[in-house]
Amino acid sequence: MRKGDTVSEKPLENLVNEGQTFPPPAEFAAQANGTADLYDKADADPEGFWAEQARTYLTWSKPFTQSLDWSNPPFAKWFADGELNACVNAVDRHVEEGRGDKVAIHFVGEPEGDTRDITYADLHAEVQRAANALADLGIGKGDTVAIYLPMIPEAAVAMLACARLGAPHSVVFGGFSAEALHSRINDAECKVVITADGGYRRGAPSALKPAVDAALDHGDTSVEHVLVVRRTGQDTAWNDRDLWWHEALEKAAPTHEAQAFEAEHPLFILYTSGTTGKPKGIFHTTGGYLTQCAYTNAVVHDVHRDTDVYWCTADIGWVTGHSYIVYGPMTNGVTQVMYEGTPDTPHQGRWWEIVQDHKVTILYTAPTAVRTFMKWGTDIPAKFDMSSLRLLGSVGEPINPEAWLWYHRNIGGDRAPIVDTWWQTETGAIMISPLPGVTTLEPGSAQKPIPGISAEILDDEGQPFTEAEKVGYLVLTKPWPAMLRGIWGDPERYKQTYWSRFGEKYYFAGDGAKYDDKGNIWLLGRVDDVMNVSGHRLSTAEIESALVSHPKVAEAAVVGATDDTTGQAICAFVILRQEFVEEADEPGEGKDLVQELRNHVGNEIGPIAKPRSIMIVSELPKTRSGKIMRRLLRDVAEGREVGDVTTLADSSVMDLIKTGMSSE
Ligand code: PRX
Repeated sequence: MRKGDTVSEKPLENLVNEGQTFPPPAEFAAQANGTADLYDKADADPEGFWAEQARTYLTWSKPFTQSLDWSNPPFAKWFADGELNACVNAVDRHVEEGRGDKVAIHFVGEPEGDTRDITYADLHAEVQRAANALADLGIGKGDTVAIYLPMIPEAAVAMLACARLGAPHSVVFGGFSAEALHSRINDAECKVVITADGGYRRGAPSALKPAVDAALDHGDTSVEHVLVVRRTGQDTAWNDRDLWWHEALEKAAPTHEAQAFEAEHPLFILYTSGTTGKPKGIFHTTGGYLTQCAYTNAVVHDVHRDTDVYWCTADIGWVTGHSYIVYGPMTNGVTQVMYEGTPDTPHQGRWWEIVQDHKVTILYTAPTAVRTFMKWGTDIPAKFDMSSLRLLGSVGEPINPEAWLWYHRNIGGDRAPIVDTWWQTETGAIMISPLPGVTTLEPGSAQKPIPGISAEILDDEGQPFTEAEKVGYLVLTKPWPAMLRGIWGDPERYKQTYWSRFGEKYYFAGDGAKYDDKGNIWLLGRVDDVMNVSGHRLSTAEIESALVSHPKVAEAAVVGATDDTTGQAICAFVILRQEFVEEADEPGEGKDLVQELRNHVGNEIGPIAKPRSIMIVSELPKTRSGKIMRRLLRDVAEGREVGDVTTLADSSVMDLIKTGMSSE
């Protein structure tokens, strides 16, 4: 937002400067699920507290007798002797308890007028058929299934059908490329892929199936069958292994008796970026994960099953979609909106129109979206009636106070509390967040660990501290039910990545953090080589390795530079192989080459990984031991004066790069 811009009567900057805080409105507090006594209860007996939540929010086929088993750290077990079925918890029991007619999903397709309401009874019928169809293809307990779908209800059905069978799913975001899909399918040895002909994106059908074909055409595949949902009706190449989803479901038996699985049975794998080029398959199990998803959806999002219309705008391909579209809200029997498309198709008020039409009461989205709406202008949401909204949420990156205040006023009508929720793919569910009926909100800070969760900030020596404004590392100090149980197939990497930086006692989150003078936690972004672009996690190493896989590239360095809208933007510095340097120097060629490299990254990982800028350089700044000094590259990328260069092996390198930059 530009200086001097105002919304209603008061400039936002003034609000920021005043450090204004927001106590919970009395009316909200009076009905809130999350109450202050939860903190004391959880402190007094964390494991007993979680056991109580597991019994409150879930239906167990076989009750558990033990809460946490931490006898073999860092491998936790929660409620280990209990048994349950995740799909039964998310679907069947609502129907059995007489709520079959309640809408589970108000689906809004991107093409205008393409809507569908799906009740819990509809969902029940679909998941049973889908489970039978998968079983007919040989899928059973322990088999892995890849899901590569647009944001359509079938994505949730596919996930739940896998869960029903005890077959861990691996959802791959539809924006990832064939290459990325291939490596994920292979790593998890998936037997079936569930995809669609395509989905609607920015006003046009966008094909998905060709990426699956390309991923499987590598030859060495574990995949036996591909189930294809017909969404767009596009022409689709067909292989022997392909089956239409609707045909397979039609043929399948209509009822399916769900079996209960042990609480520690793997529910899903979700790949995320780490500090190396190879994405990690984070895996989650059933009982603990579901407990924390349902509990946080109740106490943080404050869902009230009978009255709320909830909308989480995340894609199902990310952890937020897993935990807060499928497993949390559905376990709680909530009515929710699912939207297929982009926020500006066919107009920039599309989201607010959806809020108005469906009387959405709770909206959970990402700061990058909020900042985009700020850019588009306050007059757009102002055209719609959004008085139904009573709670707003934020996730994925720090929300700057300016965006927070804009969101609060222009979307929440100065009325709806905002929960800024910090968590990760690894944590499985919300960890640090206000409780909206209890906490006095502090714009920009995720504030305190929720009841049941313990966090600290450590200094470089691994010592916890509580001084205000000192910057340190965020760690989690006690196991929590939804914690990852490991990295698929690589227990050593799990230990190394999360439990070695500060010893076995602390889970190292990879985020910098500080306290303010009220003891609130402020998240300061990643301290490792992981970037956060529009709330999407990408590693510098992953993009570097995509760049060097291009035949013209000798070396590459990638940094995340601050960006007003996307949080961070990807900036790459590339050294060409000698034989291509002259070619690139020819007039006009450099531009083409940059485009070629951007497209190459798009093909290797996906469009979200395309660098915002690529600079062809002749040298990279390195220490004498050969480590690339990203700090200096970040200075260049952010247009700052370059910092201390004394540890550089060759300090003239930065002059060369800066000169190159100014002649761009
Ligand atoms: O850096 C933190 C940031 O996102 C990272 C986790 O990314 P991912 O696993 O993709 O999960 C995103 C959705 C849960 C964290 O290490 N992050 C997430 N939420 C916040 C945040 N940073 C600050 N404030 C948040 N509310």
